[in-house]
Amino acid sequence: MEKLTTAAWVIMALSIHAVPATSFYSTEEYAPVAVKEKMTKIRVYIHDTLSTKMGSRPTAVEIARPNNTGKEEGPTPFGSLFAVDDPLTDGPDLKKSKMVGDAKGMYLSSSLPEKKEFTLVLYLSLRFKEGEFNGSTVNVFSRNTVTEKSREMSIVGGTGKFRYGRGFVSVTTASFDPVTGDAVLQYDVNVVHH
Ligand SMILES: *[C@@H]1O[C@H](CO)[C@@H](O)[C@H](O)[C@H]1NC(C)=O
Ligand SMILES: *[C@@H]1O[C@H](CO)[C@@H](O)[C@H](O)[C@H]1NC(C)=O
Repeated sequence: MEKLTTAAWVIMALSIHAVPATSFYSTEEYAPVAVKEKMTKIRVYIHDTLSTKMGSRPTAVEIARPNNTGKEEGPTPFGSLFAVDDPLTDGPDLKKSKMVGDAKGMYLSSSLPEKKEFTLVLYLSLRFKEGEFNGSTVNVFSRNTVTEKSREMSIVGGTGKFRYGRGFVSVTTASFDPVTGDAVLQYDVNVVHH
């Protein structure tokens, strides 16, 4: 077998690493590295109202469910999908607390009924409208084991003040009505960001 010259090796190595040109605009540069990332902790309460009990319209509405669920499975049977636009407040009492933002997104009831647990998988975008957080979002995508007293959801990103965000939300149930599905939850947001 013929021996490859050094020059031939260099040419081969270069051609392997050559990046093919794309037809659309792109740039590549070093990602911003924060010398010290910050961690912000925020406590808010989210009001997820399925009923009209509060005298107002529901903030969570069912948008789909399988056709084989029974009444005994409650307001959020396995496979039901909800769209939400829930208020965020600084206290657990909706009427007496200050509105500090909202949580928009969806949740899917994800536990088979025979498992006798209640688990949601949520996609929620929390947007704040106060002071330095005004307009910034924290985005959650996570499993939520609703019947456990305290639980965690993962933060997968953020915008504004919370760019490059990651972290978790500790969730505690402040109140829950199993008949209507109405819930008030304490969200302790722990977000690391630049
Ligand atoms: C549910 O929908 C499927 C598909 O249309 C149908 O075959 C089935 O009979 C329905 N089941 C019930 C309980 O209505
Ligand atoms: C938040 O930002 C919006 C849009 O810029 C502005 O209209 C609003 O007054 C701000 N709210 C606070 C509390 O700063």
